[in-house]
Amino acid sequence: MIVLGIETSCDETSAALVNENKQILSNVILSQIAEHEPYGGVVPEIAARAHLDHLDRLIREALEIAGVDLGKVSGVAAAAGPGLIGGVIVGVMTAKAIALARGLPFIAVNHLEGHALTARLTNDVEWPFLLLLVSGGHCQLLLVEGVGRYRRLGTTIDDAVGEAFDKAAKLIGLGYPGGPRLEQAALRARDPGRFDLPRPMLGRPGCDFSFSGLKTAVRRCLDELPKPLPAQDGADLASAFQSAVGDALADRTARAMDLAATLAPECRTLVVAGGVAANMSVRARLDAQSARKGWRFVAPPLGLCTDNAAMIAWAGLERLRLGMTDGLDFAPRPRWPLDPDAPKARGAGVKA
Ligand code: KG4
Ligand code: ZN
Repeated sequence: MIVLGIETSCDETSAALVNENKQILSNVILSQIAEHEPYGGVVPEIAARAHLDHLDRLIREALEIAGVDLGKVSGVAAAAGPGLIGGVIVGVMTAKAIALARGLPFIAVNHLEGHALTARLTNDVEWPFLLLLVSGGHCQLLLVEGVGRYRRLGTTIDDAVGEAFDKAAKLIGLGYPGGPRLEQAALRARDPGRFDLPRPMLGRPGCDFSFSGLKTAVRRCLDELPKPLPAQDGADLASAFQSAVGDALADRTARAMDLAATLAPECRTLVVAGGVAANMSVRARLDAQSARKGWRFVAPPLGLCTDNAAMIAWAGLERLRLGMTDGLDFAPRPRWPLDPDAPKARGAGVKA
């Protein structure tokens, strides 16, 4: 079984082929960083046009690299949401067209499920597991009990953690994309303990997150510092921000581990996924937390943490082999929570 996956929900255009033996036959990723950099963030219209310009060629390349023609493909999966709707439409329409022309099943994959199931592609992870999903649009703790079976234990009440990285990086003047640049700057810190930033929600009941106060605290520190900001001050502040985020994520995750253990006693694995899972300091904090609790910790390789089509192909394959395919009338979804039963979180700017 080989599945073609397509990812166009944000600012990466990607096509991949994955087989049921967990082999990534190809995973071509075109980043749009250069197109969006002048604007300091992703511009949805520019993203949609860029996906349209490049996707056909990338699919051809993915097939060539894999040495596979469409005759050998068992299904076509596309990230059908949540995401920037213009881009999602490009990917979904392309996948449907191929499926229709070739008489193949179409699989509408939730982009978040793509991140969630990556650890089952790269490591032998069984159900159930606890998932910390940390990306540009989301920050959630979920108990994953099977394909399409998610119980949300916590979510952000304001900003997503990747968004917080991006905004903090912008404030410090590190530019776009913020997360990786902030991580690099933090490595140059000489006095990581110099700025005392708050640890949002630390010790509070429940497993929800909050990051907007941390962003405000970064702004307050900057108000006290010389302008233009000396690079060393920026590096020290970046490091302080990263530690505060690490502490907040570890604290909330520890609580979710306790909660997960009451809901599913056999759950002893923590998986981290999403773009922020590429952050080495965040990974180290979660690794240490897991060790303290006697849990197994699984983090996908860095290149499979940020958006890519291999994760969409794999989630599509997991669905296809369970007969979970979709009709060609499936409508792309700008919002699409993994756990539709979860109560809506309150607060400004709450994400799905
Ligand atoms: O999963 P992803 O590629 O796209 C979404 O689905 O959102 O995540 C992108 C987010 C961005 O906010 C980016 O700044 C953040 O992940 N990110 C990082 C790192 N690499 C990407 N944040 C912190 N450290 C990194 N190394
Ligand atoms: Zn993503």
